Amino acid sequence: MTTDFKPDYSFESIREEFPILKREVHPGVPLTYLDSAATSQKPIHVIEAMDHYYRNTNANIHRGVHMLAEEATFSYEQAREKVARFIGANKPKEVIFTRNTTESINLLAYTLGRSLLKPGDLVVLTEMEHHSNLVPWQMLAQVLNLRLEFIRITDDGMLDLDSYDQLLKQNPKLVSFTQMSNVLGTINPAQEIIKKAKENGAVTIVDGAQSVPHIPVNVKQLGADFMAFSAHKMLGPLGIGVLWGREELLEELPPFLGGGDMIKKVYLRSFTYNDLPHKFEAGTPAVAEAIGFGAAIDYLSSTGMDRIAIHEQNLIKYAIDELQKIDGLHILGPDASLRGGVASFTLDGIHPHDVAQILDGDGIAVRAGHHCAMPLHDRYNIPASTRASFYLYNTINDIDVLIKSLKRVVKIFG
Ligand code: ALA
Repeated sequence: MTTDFKPDYSFESIREEFPILKREVHPGVPLTYLDSAATSQKPIHVIEAMDHYYRNTNANIHRGVHMLAEEATFSYEQAREKVARFIGANKPKEVIFTRNTTESINLLAYTLGRSLLKPGDLVVLTEMEHHSNLVPWQMLAQVLNLRLEFIRITDDGMLDLDSYDQLLKQNPKLVSFTQMSNVLGTINPAQEIIKKAKENGAVTIVDGAQSVPHIPVNVKQLGADFMAFSAHKMLGPLGIGVLWGREELLEELPPFLGGGDMIKKVYLRSFTYNDLPHKFEAGTPAVAEAIGFGAAIDYLSSTGMDRIAIHEQNLIKYAIDELQKIDGLHILGPDASLRGGVASFTLDGIHPHDVAQILDGDGIAVRAGHHCAMPLHDRYNIPASTRASFYLYNTINDIDVLIKSLKRVVKIFG
């Protein structure tokens, strides 16, 4: 450790609760997991909650009257209540379970495309969006002839709010943006963006995939209309995500997928649809995953989102300080104080895939590539970057291991 960093040592013991962090990835080489922005690791509580469900309670929900079906339904709906409390939603029925953030945004593109949005309408996004908040709108724009415009980003990875003000003058119908960039780590001023959108009569969507797992988020405080996020990035299982929406707006939207559970009455040629939240949850849902997600939320809440955010803020400050000392290394994005625990960088003359491969030899898992944000990389005239991302189970030692290995990369290619 070379800077005057004061780690919160209570986080060291957290590692014990994540079985995967004990494994070696090559003989004698322990895992250093720095890819939590792609997916987080799972604590034993989550693994055991899902195991317990399959051993004791497995049944389909909302259908049976037998004991297992009732217990499974209760646990599934309890998970919804936990999510609602975690994000400060007014009611559990404002929480729709989907497969992931991508599906939540696609649900909105499909249903808003059949209700609110009309040909010629303007949809405002940003240049730092993940493909999941770009491609669904591009697909809708093709069929509905929408206009897509983008809040620009500055050279240091912040949103250019002057360009937003200009776009607002054109009366957008919808503003959809990420609260935290998965590449730059930038934490955007979501409350301000939403307030301005509302003053101009636009509906707002927050992509919370990277923010909800890492910083305290309260949808009422934000004032948003909709928010999307995924369980797997916040200690929960893969395959379940959330669309949160204000009740009155969700009521106005048509259903998305048709089939079982989302109906009230079905005739040969027509149907009536179910009440919220079931209207948007067609087919047998991911019950074990919802229960695992509930356990993850219990874990995050008992650790404390404020503490987690401070821990990651300390890690990213240390990481940026140390990364900056490496010759030829360029960090994307703003000052550490303006970002979450994500550091993407390039190394002069070395392809990110080569960097990631050498790091892997030292047991370090990072992501290399465009991180599902090609237009963002185009903005900086680079094809790809290497990304280290942190979570509550990372320590200062993980960063020291990364820095040592990066020095080895520079030596090999230098
Ligand atoms: N969206 C995830 C990432 O940024 C997969 O890596």
